[in-house]
Amino acid sequence: MVGAGYVGLVSGACFADFGHEVVCVDKDPAKIESLRAGHIPIFEPGLEETVAANVRAGRLSFSTDLAAAVPQADAVFIAVGTPSRRGDGFADLSHVYAAAREIAASLEGYTVVVTKSTVPVGTGDEVDRIIRETRPGAAFSVVSNPEFLREGAAIEDFKRPDRIVIGAEDQRGAELVAELYRPLYLNAAPVLTMGRRTAELTKYAANAFLALKVTFINEIADLCEQVGANVQEVARGIGLDKRIGGKFLHAGPGYGGSCFPKDTLALTKTAQNAGAPLRLVETVVAVNDQRKVAMARKVIAACGGSVRGRTIGVLGLTFKPNTDDMRDAPSLAIVAALQDAGARIRAFDPEGMENAASVLDGVDYTRDAYECAEGADALVLITEWDSFRALDLERLKAAMAGRIVVDLRNVYRPDEMSRRGFAYVSIGRPDTPAPIT
Ligand code: UDX
Repeated sequence: MVGAGYVGLVSGACFADFGHEVVCVDKDPAKIESLRAGHIPIFEPGLEETVAANVRAGRLSFSTDLAAAVPQADAVFIAVGTPSRRGDGFADLSHVYAAAREIAASLEGYTVVVTKSTVPVGTGDEVDRIIRETRPGAAFSVVSNPEFLREGAAIEDFKRPDRIVIGAEDQRGAELVAELYRPLYLNAAPVLTMGRRTAELTKYAANAFLALKVTFINEIADLCEQVGANVQEVARGIGLDKRIGGKFLHAGPGYGGSCFPKDTLALTKTAQNAGAPLRLVETVVAVNDQRKVAMARKVIAACGGSVRGRTIGVLGLTFKPNTDDMRDAPSLAIVAALQDAGARIRAFDPEGMENAASVLDGVDYTRDAYECAEGADALVLITEWDSFRALDLERLKAAMAGRIVVDLRNVYRPDEMSRRGFAYVSIGRPDTPAPIT
C-alpha cells in the first residue's frame, strides 16, 4: 500500500484484517515511526483497534522502503493524495506518477498495480505507460479500484461495501484484484468489472451525483424558507420514492470534506477538456461555494443585521461528525465571514479543534459546548455531532448572554426551542409558516 494517508491506512488495515499480508509504505519517516509506535494520525472510529490487532498478528507493518516492499507484492496499491492543483483545480497527479515510477523500478514477477486514489479518467493509461517506459518487459497489469469510503464510517464501508468496482484492461489483473476482496463475497457485495477508464469515471460520477443531491435539497431548503414549507418533510416525501432514495437529502450548510469539493471541481475540468462540459456539476460547485457565505449572512440576519462586537459560539467545526477533518469544512468560510463582520468567535468541536487551530485564526477554543455558550449572544451549530443532540438546553441558555440559536443542521426541534425561549433559526423549516396565497 503506497501512501499511509486516510485511504491507504484504512484499506491496508482492512486488507490485513481479511488475512492478507500488508505493508503500508510512506515517504514520511515521522509518520511511519509514529504508526509503528501505535499512533494513528487521523480520527476514524475502529481504525486504531484494527491496526493494532493486525500488527500484533504480524499481517500489517509500516515502512519507508518502497523498493523492499514491492518485489514481494502480488498487488501494489497507489493510495497517495490527489489534491486540487493550485490555479486550475485539476487533480494534481504528481504523487501518483512519482509512485508509479518508483514501483516500476522495483517490480519483480507478475504484479498488479492498482490505483486506489481518486484519479481522473486516463490516469491508469498514463501509469501503464510510465511503468512500461521505466521497465520495458516487466510483467504487470494496471487496474483501477476506486474507494467509496466515508470518513467516520470507513471501516464499515470497506467491509460492507455497496459494490466493488474493478476497472481492468486484462482478465488476469481483474481476477487478482477481485480475489483480494474474496472475504466480502460472503456479504454478497457485487463485484463490477469494467474498463479502466469507466471505473475511473464511476468514482467521480458517484461523488458528483451525491454532491448534486445534497445541493439540490439545500436549494429546496432555501425555497422552503421563502414559501413556508418544511424541507425535512419534503425530503421524506421524495426520498421514499425508490427512484430517488432517502439518503443524502439532509439540508445543511453545504458539503465539504476531502472528496466532494475536490472531485466535483476536478470532474468539471476533465469534462471541459474533453469538450463535454458538465454544466449541472459546474453549477453544483458554484452553488455550494456561495452557500457557505450565505450561511454567515443567515447568522448575521438572525442577529438583527449586525454581529459587530457580538460574541458568537460555534458548535462543531469539522466538515461532518466523527472525523477530525477540517478540509473544506463549511465552518472555515462561515467563521471567517463572521469575523470579517466584526464578531468574536468562541468554538467547540469534540475532535476537530487541533486541526481547526491550524487553519482558523482568532478563535477562542473551549472545553465543551457549555463553556462555548458562556457569554455568547448567539450560538451557531455547524456540525451535527451526536453529543450536541442531547445537550441540556436550559444550562446552555443560562450560560448565554443572548437567546439566538442558529442550527445549520436541523438538530433541534423548532417548537421545543421556541417553547424554551430561544430565538431559533434552522434550515428550511420556518417557525411561522407563511400564509398560503
Ligand atoms: C464522500 C463519499 O460519501 C465517499 O463515498 C467518497 O469515497 C468520499 O467522499 P465523505 O467526504 O467522508 O465521503 O463524507 P460524506 O458523508 O459523503 O459527506 C460529504 C459532505 O456532504 C459533508 O460535508 C456532509 O455534511 C454533507 N452532507 C451529506 C450533507 O450536507 N447532507 C447530506 O444529506 C449528506
